Amino acid sequence: MKKALLTSLVVAALVCAFALPNLSAATKAPADMVLKAPEGMKMKKTPVAFPHGKHEALLKDCKVCHHTYEGSGDVKGCSSAGCHDQASKKEKMSFYKAFHDKKSKVSCLGCHKAEKKGPKSCKDCHPKK
Ligand code: HEC
Ligand code: HEC
Ligand code: HEC
Repeated sequence: MKKALLTSLVVAALVCAFALPNLSAATKAPADMVLKAPEGMKMKKTPVAFPHGKHEALLKDCKVCHHTYEGSGDVKGCSSAGCHDQASKKEKMSFYKAFHDKKSKVSCLGCHKAEKKGPKSCKDCHPKK
């Protein structure tokens, strides 16, 4: 009995030791990111610098932006299949709207407008080449 308990404790400890680093790798983003359109979508504008770490500190709750994240497993990118993966601006789930929809407080532009903070003009986020 005692031996079985000890064995299960050792197993549990080992599982934790291996699982924890994987978990943090799946949920940790670099402090500074450069956002681009997904492969296959032509880019008319320059890539966008996004201080992810600053926004984490600012907003605390990851789910504000990662609104399909359940709190465990991988954090999905915005343009994952079935998400904001439509190339045409007019589509409801377009890649463009995910970042510019003025009516959404979760899009970059929508939140910056609502908060009256952060860059709002095209060239502030997409600097001229
Ligand atoms: C202000 C919005 C915002 C907040 C708040 C935020 N993130 Fe993010 N995060 C993003 C954006 C935008 C990306 C880039 C997604 C992409 O490339 O499609 C991203 C990317 C990531 C990625 C990389 C995913 C991938 O494979 O593309 C991880 C991991 C991540 N965030 C974790 C977190 C965690 C954990 C928190 C909370 C502590 C958090 N984020 C808070 C906006 C945010
Ligand atoms: C839910 C709200 C929210 C969302 C979503 C959001 N931001 Fe911000 N962002 C802010 C606020 C608030 C500030 C102002 C921070 C300050 O002045 O200290 C800011 C500031 C910034 C800054 C300036 C940082 C600096 O050092 O001055 C950049 C660049 C930026 N945001 C880019 C983005 C991009 C790109 C996205 C979308 C991928 C995004 N933000 C999404 C709230 C948001
Ligand atoms: C708060 C930051 C921010 C502002 C302001 C902003 N954008 Fe964006 N934009 C992004 C992000 C983030 C992406 C997604 C990453 C990428 O494609 O570079 C994006 C992508 C795009 C795309 C699709 C990709 C491409 O390069 O063709 C277009 C088009 C675009 N933006 C045009 C504009 C225009 C026009 C304005 C001004 C009305 C504007 N953006 C203002 C952050 C911003």
